[in-house]
Amino acid sequence: MKNLIDIKDLTEQEIEDLIKVAKNIMKNPENYSDKCNHKKLATLFFEPSTRTRLSFEAAMYELGGHVIGFSDSNSSSTSKGESVSDTIRTVGCYSDIIAMRHPKEGAPFVASRKSTVPIINAGDGGHNHPTQTLTDLLTISCEKKRLNNLTIGLCGDLKFGRTVHSLITAMLRYDNIKFILISPEELKTPEYIKDNIKKSNKEFIETNDIEEYIGDLDILYMTRVQKERFFNEEDYLRLKDYYILDEEKLEKAKKDLCIMHPLPRVNEISTKVDDDPRACYFKQVLYGKYVRMALILKMLDID
Ligand code: CP
Repeated sequence: MKNLIDIKDLTEQEIEDLIKVAKNIMKNPENYSDKCNHKKLATLFFEPSTRTRLSFEAAMYELGGHVIGFSDSNSSSTSKGESVSDTIRTVGCYSDIIAMRHPKEGAPFVASRKSTVPIINAGDGGHNHPTQTLTDLLTISCEKKRLNNLTIGLCGDLKFGRTVHSLITAMLRYDNIKFILISPEELKTPEYIKDNIKKSNKEFIETNDIEEYIGDLDILYMTRVQKERFFNEEDYLRLKDYYILDEEKLEKAKKDLCIMHPLPRVNEISTKVDDDPRACYFKQVLYGKYVRMALILKMLDID
């Protein structure tokens, strides 16, 4: 596989295989500790990140490989006006694989057309975040023991939330999936995503009321209202605390609800929920490292 730009670049079988390898790595990490000897991963982050960048880097180190890159484009020649294409052609001379995050939708795709080494989209604007989706799928598979027969509530910024867009796209492939799309009017799911749900003959409900539906959910995927995607601060301030998941709201939820969040969290989940056994978002962070290890192996064609 040359590049991972969109979760649709992976077949259902390839996702199943990645989940299987990630679970094997979790069980027997020592079997993988030198798989990437002499290989280099470049992490090019033109937009801030904690989890994605560090989990990619930890993944490569745990596979015995090396990491180069930057976490702030101001420290690269981008600040002197270099194009993404020229940066990618340059970094391809020094590395075997590149994970790239960029604030502009489509930038990793443009980069992949010029790259001599595989490109992984580590998040592009409000568009896609396929490796977060692999993380989410591994989390669901481990925590719910299935990827079908699920009612999934997605709550918060469903308009700009790239993790939500990629997760819905991925879940459309599985049987008996129902989506509850919970957002304020201004942050509703884009029409093209809803059209894709309709085309897949899956059921969805749009609401702004989390409490009405929380008792129906197998998974509750909370998201942050993203300050960086707003054009004016007033709108952000009005919407930022629209949903705060707390112990009171969870009283109506199923005992085996799986609460997920791609993180970072701001206020949308009370820290008191962190000790609830249904809170899976920090486990999700760890699953992210294992699935990225599996992905690096696949993309470098290493068994
Ligand atoms: N989930 C996620 O993409 O987190 P970071 O922005 O910290 O990488």
